[in-house]
Amino acid sequence: PVLVVDFGAQYAQLIARRVREAGMYSEVIPHTAKAAEFAARKPVAIVLSGGPSSVYGEGVPALDTEVFDLGVPIFGICYGFQIMTTSLGGTVAKTDRREYGSTQLTVTEPGTLLAGQPETQTVWMSHGDSVTEAPDGFTVLASTAGAPIAAFENLERRFAGVQWHPEVMHSAFGQEVLRNFLYRVAGLSSDWSPASVIDEQVELIRQQVGDKKVICGLSGGVDSAVAAALVHKAVGDQLTCVFVDHGLLRQDERTQVENDYVDATGIRLVTIDASEQFLGQLAGITDPEDKRKAIGHEFIRTFESAAADLVLEARETAADGSGEEIEFLVQGTLYPDVVESGGGSGTANIKSHHNVGGLPEDLQFKLVEPLRALFKDEVRAIGRELGLPEVIVSRQPFPGPGLGIRIIGEVTKDRLDTLRKADAIVRAELTAAGLDAEIWQCPVVLLADVRSVGVQGDGRTYGHPIVLRPVSSEDAMTADWTRLPYELLATISNRITNEVEEVNRVVLDVTSKPPGTIEWE
Ligand code: XMP
Repeated sequence: PVLVVDFGAQYAQLIARRVREAGMYSEVIPHTAKAAEFAARKPVAIVLSGGPSSVYGEGVPALDTEVFDLGVPIFGICYGFQIMTTSLGGTVAKTDRREYGSTQLTVTEPGTLLAGQPETQTVWMSHGDSVTEAPDGFTVLASTAGAPIAAFENLERRFAGVQWHPEVMHSAFGQEVLRNFLYRVAGLSSDWSPASVIDEQVELIRQQVGDKKVICGLSGGVDSAVAAALVHKAVGDQLTCVFVDHGLLRQDERTQVENDYVDATGIRLVTIDASEQFLGQLAGITDPEDKRKAIGHEFIRTFESAAADLVLEARETAADGSGEEIEFLVQGTLYPDVVESGGGSGTANIKSHHNVGGLPEDLQFKLVEPLRALFKDEVRAIGRELGLPEVIVSRQPFPGPGLGIRIIGEVTKDRLDTLRKADAIVRAELTAAGLDAEIWQCPVVLLADVRSVGVQGDGRTYGHPIVLRPVSSEDAMTADWTRLPYELLATISNRITNEVEEVNRVVLDVTSKPPGTIEWE
């Protein structure tokens, strides 16, 4: 892999994603790893990420300098650029001049790293100190007002570095710089594509599972759908999927899973219709946390009993000598979860409890996690490559508790029907406007306990408001409200108030996160 060194400030994961987008497999490694640990992971290149602003600060993250002697190509970014400089005998000076944000860069000598790039370009900066003297053997390539040495390279050692952040969108030619490093300075060839991941994972799943049986809980979301499709490609009908319909799904979601998805994959699917039970459990509850608990508990109970039935069934046929017991459970765990929980071996168990809602001790499964090395956009690419329907692959995130936490007030069947209609209109209009890729997600919320006066047709109405909550985000940790075109908002508002009974007002949520969360509950 290309190893991306994490200096503790959230840049490493983004860089790892960009490396993958450039066509190379990447993994994140902590800066505390010794040179021998780097070597053991057989890196084809190393990227040093950004980090705290000063290499001279106290207790700032360092790097084992022997990493520079491994003979592996290295690319330093921002803080990593400065670590590279000081480790190899150059100088970084404390300056009072801070550069932050969009900055004009002048390419003085393109070399190999900046070959084919415009002489002046906009880059994203965030630094206080500056490199004032490049290490011996390095050619200086570019400068900015605050950074006399903003990029350098040493082709003999296959080392290069930049002061700016090529991984962020605001750097106009960032991805080209990264590609130039990987393919020209380091001389690598691409080893990462959806097709290669599928082949590799299918082989690994076959090795792990053998002829045993596997079970998977489908949520309707992208991750579990792609994980199950991969496992099915590997071991076919040894896999059974369970889909719990809790009655809190959006319009057509169940059909999409039961028909479109099954058609595309041929997966054996058991649907449990538990909407009545869920509604029963939700009766009288208005507090968001109580709702989540009620839905969570009921989900565990339902999945558990379905899994137990399947285990029993498999056990009976196994006893006949005609089959195998269920030994494995598929999980859609992604790489960011693995990195965030330290990547240790404890990760899988914590996740299994979190994701399928805590399976009981006596149903111990071994986990199959074919997406453990992947980022979300890669999961989508793999889903497409596997031929999954676009409605599943491009689905925006949808919370496990579903529409249950988008009805402010008690959840009832009528209210769910109202919200489902409004939500379907919003989704159809956003798709028609071609905005699906731009929007992270757009919760549609029914303020069931609020009424307002309106006039519709000939008479006075006393109905409920629908809230539109379109947000843009990279990872849902922070978000901004999406500036949807007024015309589109007008169309959505007209359609909802005309087509959905009980709703006589549509309002727009213009709050970022923080302070608001994405969902209303
Ligand atoms: P918030 O509302 O916390 O949401 O800003 C962040 C992201 O998480 C989703 N979300 C959930 N997903 N179970 C889930 O699987 C949940 O209980 C849950 N609550 C929120 C939300 O849709 C957004 O993408």
